[in-house]
Amino acid sequence: MVEKNEIQARLPQAFKGLAQGRLEKHSGKVRDWYSLGEEQRLLVTTDRLSAFDRVVGVVPWKGQVLNELSAWWNRQSADIVANHLLSIPDPNVSVVKLASPLPVEVIVRGYITGVTSTALWRRYSEGERKIYGYSFPEGLKKNQRLPEPIITPTTKALPGFHDERLTIAEVVERGHLQRKIWDRVMEISLALFARGSQIAAEAGLILVDTKYEFGLARDGSLMLIDEIHTPDSSRFWKAESYQDRVEKGLEPELFDKEFVRLRYAEAGYRGDGELPLLPDSVWAETALLYQKAYELLTGGTFKPGSYPVESRLLANLAREGIEL
Ligand SMILES: Nc1ncnc2c1ncn2[C@@H]1O[C@H](COP(=O)(O)OP(=O)(O)O)[C@@H](O)[C@H]1O
Ligand SMILES: [Mg+2]
Repeated sequence: MVEKNEIQARLPQAFKGLAQGRLEKHSGKVRDWYSLGEEQRLLVTTDRLSAFDRVVGVVPWKGQVLNELSAWWNRQSADIVANHLLSIPDPNVSVVKLASPLPVEVIVRGYITGVTSTALWRRYSEGERKIYGYSFPEGLKKNQRLPEPIITPTTKALPGFHDERLTIAEVVERGHLQRKIWDRVMEISLALFARGSQIAAEAGLILVDTKYEFGLARDGSLMLIDEIHTPDSSRFWKAESYQDRVEKGLEPELFDKEFVRLRYAEAGYRGDGELPLLPDSVWAETALLYQKAYELLTGGTFKPGSYPVESRLLANLAREGIEL
């Protein structure tokens, strides 16, 4: 772990992404990527943090946490589904098998929570009782556990657009996926969520909800891509204090990106318009939460890579014969 003071001092050096080099750079909100031949992709995970469908700030060492934690989970779940990971030449970089991504993101939820427009609690608190095709009874409390995990798919939105909510039936009805593959994707997703929940429980955490992305490899086989069970793609709560805090109407102790969303909500932000400014301490505290999640889940110590990231990363790639 890195001390809070050091994290805060590193804020100006947080890794926002590499400068444009020889190879064409493509950018998502959090990752940049480069084509390595026809079958591989170099995924660079930056320290950018996205919330409300845009990049809102940077969190030192977050890129490394996501990259290494995802790799760890890939190893814990390889018996359930094949994944894209080939190698990790730098703490912030993965070399992966190139996939044709499926056009649907699979969100699995074990609890009713969340403040964003697609979140169950937000919809429920605004009066909806049929959400993503599921019927919800009256009287649910925020952060309550659902009788069983549910799948709430969304389309994979183009940059600048919000993801569109779908029911599990609409994924097939609207022609996003064929029934056979969607059934398999759902089955795998629930199995991954069960595995994730079990491992999280052993670490004293609750895996609240998460998002999976899948793709087809060149040979047509299904594989897990992107990231898995990270504090960006998932919510994690502390198991020990959960029950007591929910009964008292308090938020659970959390180890994920919801921390930032809640700070924005407290500052009056509801999802549209200009974002209020948050103090540096919020970004440093977010970094600590991510590192803590890494350490609790993996049972290992987080070994921070040296900063600034760019020079280190390029040197590590050069050692592998990769020049960007
Ligand atoms: N193995 C892969 N093959 C092809 N695309 C991938 C693979 N792994 C991840 N991706 C895609 O790379 C991008 C990762 O960048 P990210 O910043 O996470 O994007 P986003 O802003 O959409 O979340 C995503 O669009 C994801 O779908
Ligand atoms: Mg992403």
